[in-house]
Amino acid sequence: MSIKNLHQDVIEQVLITSDNLQKRIAELAKDISKDYNGKELVLICILKGGLYFLTDLSKKITIPHTFDVVGATSYGKSVRSTGHVVITKDVSTDIRGKHIIIIEDIYDTGLTLKVVMDLLRVHNPASVEVCALIEKKKIHKEEIMIKYVGFEIEDEFVVGYGLDYDEKFRHFDFIGILKKEVYL
Ligand code: XMP
Ligand code: MG
Repeated sequence: MSIKNLHQDVIEQVLITSDNLQKRIAELAKDISKDYNGKELVLICILKGGLYFLTDLSKKITIPHTFDVVGATSYGKSVRSTGHVVITKDVSTDIRGKHIIIIEDIYDTGLTLKVVMDLLRVHNPASVEVCALIEKKKIHKEEIMIKYVGFEIEDEFVVGYGLDYDEKFRHFDFIGILKKEVYL
Protein backbone atom coordinates (compact mmCIF):
# COMPACT_ATOMS: atom_id res chain seq x y z
CA MET A 1 0.00 0.00 0.00
CA SER A 2 1.38 3.44 -0.88
CA ILE A 3 1.83 6.07 1.80
CA LYS A 4 -0.81 8.23 0.06
CA ASN A 5 -3.43 5.48 0.31
CA LEU A 6 -2.49 4.84 3.91
CA HIS A 7 -3.35 8.47 4.75
CA GLN A 8 -6.60 8.44 2.83
CA ASP A 9 -7.86 5.43 4.76
CA VAL A 10 -7.39 6.92 8.21
CA ILE A 11 -7.20 10.72 7.96
CA GLU A 12 -10.35 12.86 7.95
CA GLN A 13 -8.52 16.14 7.32
CA VAL A 14 -4.94 17.35 7.28
CA LEU A 15 -4.71 20.18 9.83
CA ILE A 16 -1.02 21.09 9.69
CA THR A 17 1.14 20.28 6.68
CA SER A 18 4.78 19.26 6.93
CA ASP A 19 5.84 22.65 5.52
CA ASN A 20 3.80 24.57 8.08
CA LEU A 21 5.15 22.41 10.90
CA GLN A 22 8.75 23.12 9.89
CA LYS A 23 8.14 26.86 9.40
CA ARG A 24 6.57 27.24 12.83
CA ILE A 25 9.24 25.09 14.50
CA ALA A 26 11.89 27.38 12.98
CA GLU A 27 10.14 30.38 14.59
CA LEU A 28 9.98 28.63 17.97
CA ALA A 29 13.67 27.73 17.70
CA LYS A 30 14.53 31.35 16.95
CA ASP A 31 12.59 32.58 20.01
CA ILE A 32 14.17 29.96 22.27
CA SER A 33 17.69 30.73 20.95
CA LYS A 34 17.16 34.41 21.79
CA ASP A 35 15.47 33.90 25.19
CA TYR A 36 18.03 31.36 26.48
CA ASN A 37 21.21 32.89 25.10
CA GLY A 38 23.95 32.53 27.77
CA LYS A 39 21.90 30.09 29.86
CA GLU A 40 22.49 26.40 30.38
CA LEU A 41 19.54 24.99 28.44
CA VAL A 42 18.20 21.43 28.58
CA LEU A 43 15.29 20.32 26.42
CA ILE A 44 13.34 17.53 28.12
CA CYS A 45 11.11 15.56 25.80
CA ILE A 46 8.06 13.64 26.99
CA LEU A 47 8.15 10.23 25.30
CA LYS A 48 7.12 9.18 22.84
CA GLY A 49 4.86 11.77 21.24
CA GLY A 50 7.34 14.66 21.53
CA LEU A 51 10.24 12.86 19.82
CA TYR A 52 9.79 14.10 16.25
CA PHE A 53 9.24 17.65 17.53
CA LEU A 54 12.31 17.47 19.79
CA THR A 55 14.70 16.42 17.04
CA ASP A 56 13.50 19.02 14.51
CA LEU A 57 13.42 21.81 17.11
CA SER A 58 16.84 20.93 18.56
CA LYS A 59 18.47 21.04 15.11
CA LYS A 60 17.07 24.53 14.52
CA ILE A 61 18.16 26.01 17.90
CA THR A 62 21.36 28.00 17.39
CA ILE A 63 22.65 28.14 20.99
CA PRO A 64 24.41 25.30 22.87
CA HIS A 65 21.98 22.92 24.60
CA THR A 66 21.52 19.32 25.64
CA PHE A 67 18.46 17.11 25.85
CA ASP A 68 17.02 14.34 27.98
CA VAL A 69 13.78 12.35 27.91
CA VAL A 70 11.12 11.41 30.43
CA GLY A 71 8.42 8.79 30.01
CA ALA A 72 4.77 9.45 30.85
CA THR A 73 1.64 7.74 29.66
CA SER A 74 -2.08 8.42 30.10
CA TYR A 75 -3.91 7.24 26.98
CA GLY A 76 -3.23 3.57 26.17
CA LYS A 77 -5.43 2.25 23.35
CA SER A 78 -7.93 5.08 23.58
CA VAL A 79 -8.65 8.58 22.33
CA ARG A 80 -9.46 9.78 25.85
CA SER A 81 -6.97 10.39 28.64
CA THR A 82 -7.38 7.82 31.42
CA GLY A 83 -6.92 10.72 33.83
CA HIS A 84 -4.18 8.70 35.49
CA VAL A 85 -0.65 9.63 34.45
CA VAL A 86 2.11 7.11 35.05
CA ILE A 87 5.78 8.17 34.94
CA THR A 88 7.66 5.39 33.19
CA LYS A 89 11.09 7.04 33.02
CA ASP A 90 12.84 9.84 34.94
CA VAL A 91 15.68 12.02 33.55
CA SER A 92 19.08 10.34 33.45
CA THR A 93 21.28 13.46 33.47
CA ASP A 94 21.94 16.02 36.23
CA ILE A 95 19.57 18.97 35.66
CA ARG A 96 20.20 20.77 38.98
CA GLY A 97 20.63 24.52 38.38
CA LYS A 98 19.88 24.22 34.65
CA HIS A 99 17.16 25.88 32.59
CA ILE A 100 14.61 23.35 31.43
CA ILE A 101 12.15 23.50 28.56
CA ILE A 102 9.74 20.56 28.50
CA ILE A 103 9.03 19.49 24.93
CA GLU A 104 5.48 18.17 24.67
CA ASP A 105 3.53 17.12 21.59
CA ILE A 106 0.10 18.29 22.75
CA TYR A 107 -1.44 20.12 25.71
CA ASP A 108 -4.80 18.41 26.17
CA THR A 109 -6.07 17.92 29.74
CA GLY A 110 -2.74 19.17 31.14
CA LEU A 111 -2.47 16.22 33.52
CA THR A 112 0.71 14.89 31.90
CA LEU A 113 2.45 18.28 32.01
CA LYS A 114 1.45 18.79 35.65
CA VAL A 115 2.92 15.44 36.71
CA VAL A 116 6.10 15.92 34.66
CA MET A 117 6.63 19.48 35.98
CA ASP A 118 6.24 18.24 39.56
CA LEU A 119 8.73 15.45 38.86
CA LEU A 120 11.35 17.77 37.33
CA ARG A 121 11.10 20.34 40.14
CA VAL A 122 12.28 17.65 42.57
CA HIS A 123 15.63 17.77 40.71
CA ASN A 124 16.05 21.50 41.54
CA PRO A 125 16.51 23.03 38.09
CA ALA A 126 16.96 26.83 37.79
CA SER A 127 13.71 27.15 35.80
CA VAL A 128 11.07 24.99 34.12
CA GLU A 129 9.06 26.16 31.10
CA VAL A 130 7.00 24.32 28.50
CA CYS A 131 7.09 24.26 24.71
CA ALA A 132 4.02 22.47 23.34
CA LEU A 133 3.67 21.92 19.61
CA ILE A 134 -0.13 21.93 19.87
CA GLU A 135 -2.62 23.30 22.35
CA LYS A 136 -6.20 22.07 22.21
CA LYS A 137 -8.76 24.88 22.62
CA LYS A 138 -10.68 23.59 25.63
CA ILE A 139 -10.98 23.95 29.36
CA HIS A 140 -7.93 22.08 30.63
CA LYS A 141 -8.19 20.03 33.81
CA GLU A 142 -4.83 21.47 34.85
CA GLU A 143 -4.21 25.03 33.65
CA ILE A 144 -0.51 25.27 32.81
CA MET A 145 1.41 28.37 31.73
CA ILE A 146 2.84 27.36 28.36
CA LYS A 147 5.68 29.66 27.30
CA TYR A 148 5.86 28.47 23.68
CA VAL A 149 2.90 27.11 21.69
CA GLY A 150 3.22 26.00 18.07
CA PHE A 151 -0.40 25.74 17.00
CA GLU A 152 -3.88 25.90 18.55
CA ILE A 153 -6.46 23.38 17.34
CA GLU A 154 -10.06 22.47 18.16
CA ASP A 155 -10.67 19.57 20.55
CA GLU A 156 -10.23 16.79 17.96
CA PHE A 157 -8.19 13.62 18.20
CA VAL A 158 -5.19 14.09 15.93
CA VAL A 159 -2.32 11.88 14.83
CA GLY A 160 0.97 12.20 12.97
CA TYR A 161 4.35 13.83 13.57
CA GLY A 162 4.82 11.78 16.76
CA LEU A 163 1.18 11.60 17.83
CA ASP A 164 -0.30 8.12 17.80
CA TYR A 165 -3.45 6.11 18.05
CA ASP A 166 -2.54 2.79 19.69
CA GLU A 167 1.13 3.41 18.70
CA LYS A 168 0.22 3.81 15.02
CA PHE A 169 0.51 6.79 12.60
CA ARG A 170 3.37 8.57 14.44
CA HIS A 171 5.46 8.56 11.26
CA PHE A 172 3.12 10.76 9.18
CA ASP A 173 4.98 14.00 8.41
CA PHE A 174 1.81 16.09 8.92
CA ILE A 175 -0.81 16.35 11.67
CA GLY A 176 -4.35 15.33 10.81
CA ILE A 177 -7.70 14.44 12.36
CA LEU A 178 -8.15 10.69 12.71
CA LYS A 179 -11.28 9.27 11.04
CA LYS A 180 -13.79 8.26 13.71
CA GLU A 181 -14.29 4.82 12.16
CA VAL A 182 -10.68 3.98 13.04
CA TYR A 183 -11.49 4.02 16.75
CA LEU A 184 -15.29 3.69 17.06
P1 XMP B 1 -2.90 15.40 28.61
O1 XMP B 1 -4.37 15.10 28.56
O2 XMP B 1 -2.24 14.77 29.78
O3 XMP B 1 -2.40 14.66 27.33
O4 XMP B 1 -2.61 16.87 28.43
C1 XMP B 1 -1.12 14.67 26.96
C2 XMP B 1 -0.78 13.44 26.19
O5 XMP B 1 -1.93 12.76 25.69
C3 XMP B 1 -1.76 12.39 24.37
N1 XMP B 1 -2.77 13.07 23.52
C4 XMP B 1 -3.00 12.81 22.26
N2 XMP B 1 -2.40 11.93 21.46
N3 XMP B 1 -3.76 12.67 19.68
C5 XMP B 1 -2.79 11.86 20.16
O6 XMP B 1 -2.25 11.08 19.40
C6 XMP B 1 -4.41 13.58 20.42
O7 XMP B 1 -5.29 14.29 19.94
C7 XMP B 1 -4.01 13.65 21.79
N4 XMP B 1 -4.40 14.41 22.82
C8 XMP B 1 -3.62 14.03 23.87
C9 XMP B 1 -0.37 12.82 23.99
O8 XMP B 1 0.49 11.73 24.10
C10 XMP B 1 -0.01 13.86 24.99
O9 XMP B 1 1.36 13.89 25.28
MG1 MG C 1 0.14 9.08 22.91
